[in-house]
Amino acid sequence: MILVTGGAGFIGSNFVIHAIKYGRHKIINLDKLTYAGNLETLRSISGHENYLFVHGDIGDEKLVSSLLEKHRPYAIINFAAESHVDRSIHGPRDFIQTNIVGTFNLLESVRGYYQSLDTHEKMQFRFLHVSTDEVYGTLEKNDPPFSESNPYEPNSPYAASKAASDHLVRAWHHTYGIPVLTTNCSNNYGPYQFPEKLIPLIIHNALNHKPLPIYGDGLQVRDWLYVEDHCEAIETVLLNGKIGETYNIGGNNEKTNLFVVETICQILDRLMPRQDQKSYAELITFVKDRLGHDRRYAINAKKISLELGWKPKETFETGIEKTIRWYLENSVWVNSILSGSYREWVAKQYGH
Ligand code: NAD
Ligand code: TYD
Repeated sequence: MILVTGGAGFIGSNFVIHAIKYGRHKIINLDKLTYAGNLETLRSISGHENYLFVHGDIGDEKLVSSLLEKHRPYAIINFAAESHVDRSIHGPRDFIQTNIVGTFNLLESVRGYYQSLDTHEKMQFRFLHVSTDEVYGTLEKNDPPFSESNPYEPNSPYAASKAASDHLVRAWHHTYGIPVLTTNCSNNYGPYQFPEKLIPLIIHNALNHKPLPIYGDGLQVRDWLYVEDHCEAIETVLLNGKIGETYNIGGNNEKTNLFVVETICQILDRLMPRQDQKSYAELITFVKDRLGHDRRYAINAKKISLELGWKPKETFETGIEKTIRWYLENSVWVNSILSGSYREWVAKQYGH
């Protein structure tokens, strides 16, 4: 039995769906169902005997403690977070509340639970905290990729809140002996990603003949990781990672944003040609840059590869084709999550 938090979001739902489908774990999914969480995503497993959904906040110590006492999981994977940099720039408060205060409360519930375990259960127990490469700050063009020993230099309110949560997790290990693992991964993409993040936003806008917004010059670099590769990495760290250690997870796919958007356009031109025969690339529009925009992220994933034998299976080329095909085949899912609040966000961020 694993307690997953934030399992109705993008990465958490991919993890939960695979874990249940392949019968690997029993899962309790605790999620607050913010704008980013959607039960529609979990419909295929909703009645499964190995799966239980609980609507709630990681910051609700009473609720979390009672869930731990009742279900006695051998592991907790903390995906729950506010996760969008642009939203953190418009309104950082929710990021401080969930990512820092929420993680603190969750750790306190875990501390109480861990103390109640017997020696054997204590040996088995793990708390895995899912974090981001953004805690390391930004890289220049020729800097080596981030390794686990890079200093923390977060630049956005989102990155700072995740950095703070990583420090809390570390301290709860050193001070209270909680057996923690932390993973810092690069930009994920794949099925079930909310269309506020670059890749699903571009696919969605292109299919609806809307402008494809590129911040600044579009030459910022991200290291793209296919979400199923990430989920496998998390499971690998959970089962074999060394307590107290952190593991960087990346896709070995450094691309500029402009390249990503142009690639999506080319694939859509082939899979879903426009009626007017023009390329989707015609819709590319350069817009005002993000405040404090980090120039480049890149991950050195040697540690997880050498110590735990994990490597990503997908290249950017294979992963992006799969992702686009998924969005083409799942327009019902996309439409089901595009509520009024999504439209409000788009108007706020991009004007009309
Ligand atoms: P997401 O925004 O898609 O989903 C977050 C989920 O957490 C949602 O279901 C939301 O309802 C839930 N949630 C938010 N606040 C909560 C609270 N207080 N209590 C319980 N549930 C709450 O995020 P994601 O992209 O799936 O990211 C998952 C984790 O991975 C996050 O911790 C994020 O920082 C990290 N991460 C994501 C990426 C990426 O590219 N998406 C990259 C690096 C790290
Ligand atoms: P995003 O998906 O928000 O992830 P992150 O900020 O965590 O890296 O953005 C990925 C990159 O794409 C980032 O450099 C910002 C850029 N971007 C755009 O150029 N246009 C957009 O509309 C969005 C959402 C992002």
